[in-house]
Amino acid sequence: MLQNFESLVLIWLGIGFITFITLLKIPAPYGKFSKTNWGPMIPSKLGWIVMEIISPLALLYFFLNGNIEKTPTNITFMSLWTLHYFNRSVIYPLRQNNPAQMPLLIAVLAFLFNVMNGYINGTYFGSIQEYSAEYMSNWNFIVGVCLFLIGAYINIKSDNVLLSLRSKSGEYKIPEGFMFRYVSFPNYLGEILEWMAFALMTWSLAGLSFMIWTMANLVPRAIKGHQWYHSKFESYPKNRKAIFPFII
Ligand SMILES: NC(=O)c1ccc[n+]([C@@H]2O[C@H](COP(=O)([O-])OP(=O)(O)OC[C@H]3O[C@@H](n4cnc5c(N)ncnc54)[C@H](OP(=O)(O)O)[C@@H]3O)[C@@H](O)[C@H]2O)c1
Repeated sequence: MLQNFESLVLIWLGIGFITFITLLKIPAPYGKFSKTNWGPMIPSKLGWIVMEIISPLALLYFFLNGNIEKTPTNITFMSLWTLHYFNRSVIYPLRQNNPAQMPLLIAVLAFLFNVMNGYINGTYFGSIQEYSAEYMSNWNFIVGVCLFLIGAYINIKSDNVLLSLRSKSGEYKIPEGFMFRYVSFPNYLGEILEWMAFALMTWSLAGLSFMIWTMANLVPRAIKGHQWYHSKFESYPKNRKAIFPFII
């Protein structure tokens, strides 16, 4: 089973690489890059709820139906994932203020992406790798959990700044304060930090694959979004980077 599983994850990573290259040229058409010529449109809140809630549902389905012991360490990994996705699929969409509509196709693609990542991680932690309770005293577990919480804080606080910027007219403004002083997309930076931390704490191909996929989605989008800010606002801060402070 392990060999087939690893082959599947490697194929999935290959698709992630192709996605990364594609997104550097064509940003996914939602939010700032919303397009109406990608087929039927749906309300953004509905799209976010449906396409994201499937991630923890798929994860928990494959985890709970797996045949290895559900140790406290494995349960901790699943809990962190589920908490992140409770925010993303329930709290975050309900707080969105007057968001642009999204193409149904984007919601369908994101749904499939989330099913696949839920399957890979639920299967790995439910059927393949049992982590002992002692594993929780390993340095990578402790550092990983701390970084995950810091990443979640950066992600949620930055999303809060953006959500509160949104006026009734739906206009975009220049975000200021917190980590927007350094980068245009601190919400993406926080999200990437969370999944880097997850890969570190689990030290697994499953965790690594989700980290790489998250970067494949968010790094190109931050680069494109950064260019979009510069083209839209003449007064956009010149020394702000796109996603990684002082680097890109
Ligand atoms: N793990 C992954 O692969 C993955 C993939 C995608 C997203 N995410 C996460 O999902 C969350 C949302 O992603 P996103 O791509 O929608 O983020 P985003 O483009 O930064 O938008 C976040 C929210 O703020 C609004 N907004 C953004 N910039 C604004 C501005 N300058 N002025 C006023 N309102 C503004 C957006 O409205 P509009 O929608 O109308 O633009 C949206 O409601 C992020 O936390 C991200 O990390 C994760």
